[in-house]
Amino acid sequence: MTESLATLILAAGKGSRLKSARPKVLHQIANRPMIAHVLAAARALAPERLIVVVGPEMESVAEAAAPAEIALQESQRGTGDAVAAARGPLSGFAGTVLVLYGDTPLIRAETLERLLAARRSANAAVAVIGMRPEEPGPYGRLILAADGTLEAIIEAKDASDEQRQIGLCNSGVMAIDGKRLFSLIDAITTSNSQAEYYLTDIVAIARGRDLPCVAIEADAGELLGVNSRAEQAEAEAQMQRRLRAAAMRDGVTFTAPETVFLSADTKIGRDSVVGPFVVFGPHVTVGEGVEIPAFCHMSGATVGDHASIGPFARLRPGAELGRNVHIGNFVEVKNSVLADGVKANHLSYIGDATIGAKTNVGAGTITCNYDGISKYRTEIGANVFIGTNTSLVAPVKVADGAMIAAGSVITEDVPADALALGRARQVTKKARVASWRANQLAAKEKAAAPKKNEPQKNEPQKNDKAKPGKGKPTRPKAKPKKR
Ligand code: UD1
Ligand code: CA
Repeated sequence: MTESLATLILAAGKGSRLKSARPKVLHQIANRPMIAHVLAAARALAPERLIVVVGPEMESVAEAAAPAEIALQESQRGTGDAVAAARGPLSGFAGTVLVLYGDTPLIRAETLERLLAARRSANAAVAVIGMRPEEPGPYGRLILAADGTLEAIIEAKDASDEQRQIGLCNSGVMAIDGKRLFSLIDAITTSNSQAEYYLTDIVAIARGRDLPCVAIEADAGELLGVNSRAEQAEAEAQMQRRLRAAAMRDGVTFTAPETVFLSADTKIGRDSVVGPFVVFGPHVTVGEGVEIPAFCHMSGATVGDHASIGPFARLRPGAELGRNVHIGNFVEVKNSVLADGVKANHLSYIGDATIGAKTNVGAGTITCNYDGISKYRTEIGANVFIGTNTSLVAPVKVADGAMIAAGSVITEDVPADALALGRARQVTKKARVASWRANQLAAKEKAAAPKKNEPQKNEPQKNDKAKPGKGKPTRPKAKPKKR
């Protein structure tokens, strides 16, 4: 059913229990600010108006909420006052006003739909989502009439001992008839234990005017409000369970789901297999049939279908991997485009590079992309073979079909189909080992033998410098020779 809807997200509270320099609603759950989760649930309802109430010096919250409208609550005088701050933007609005809190990141659109439906069918002035938390302690309590409709909400601090026994609590989420909203708000006073404007008071005010009010019940976990770092961790754990379950429903295999960490925007294609202890940071998109064995870390990366990543691989922002790319253990890829079929199977750093299709990057290959001041690109063509332990000193280009000899330091561009060698030539001394060993042993014996008038061992000696043949073994040295 279509219904004219305005969503109001209250986010002006300071969240002092988080002991943070940042506004509470910008703290993250699954690598996304809490308020962004609430906004996503709100947007799923396609509201006509989306308004966020912020406090002074919360430009950062306004930015995170853009393009939502912003209403400023000058000083935090309670949830009723926070709704009143949106009087301007909502003037003349006659639809339903849905009030949400910026610090309840687990709220789902389905639950909000259920609340809206309950308000409609009862034609209620106010509909509230109730919950039964394990520890009802600080929450407002819902006072129901004999017929199950809602009579009042009493804040815990103002409740009698008897009222505090009630297990049904106020989640804070409310749907209010927009035609009556500000007339109800205007009747709120501050005559309560906290001298605040309680939004919750509008229920008793509406009932005093003989307007119906209702409550629905929802899962307390989903309505968890984050007021402390511990609650933040609890919300994170719940969100992770939800994200893993959704990925598995979409056809992704997790060998050990409880060890995999996802971001709110992680996308993984079907038939991909994710091993234990894999972390998906923000903005990762993985194609279908991708193998990601244990201990990989990715963020800002795109992985093509049927690629294979890890174990122990790291994909950093700007890593764009084509189909059938193989990234092996201890390989790091950053800001690089790897075309279909590229293989980099062992111990490499690929940064600021472009690599053409089917190129093989040997073990230990490093792109030397940074000189301490600027970053430079390495451009490698298709079907290139980069030998083991190659250093590519950027900016440098290696054209299609070229081959780089193992151990090369490549500082100059390599043309197509060329073989490039950039390493010192080996020197071999035939039959040198036996004589070298004999010299070494002789030197060692001489050093150990006691000498006349010599001070005892371990005493400091003058001129105790290592000189060849004077007591200390030396490594074999090849005499420089012209080649
Ligand atoms: C509120 C409810 C309580 C409910 C609980 C659920 C009231 C009076 N009480 O209590 O019944 O059980 O939430 O978590 O409504 N905010 C503003 N401006 C203000 C005050 C608050 O924007 O002046 C915002 C906060 O940022 C927060 C939300 O409103 O997002 C709730 O505020 P909070 O102080 O946490 O309310 P509680 O006292 O916990
Ligand atoms: Ca609260």
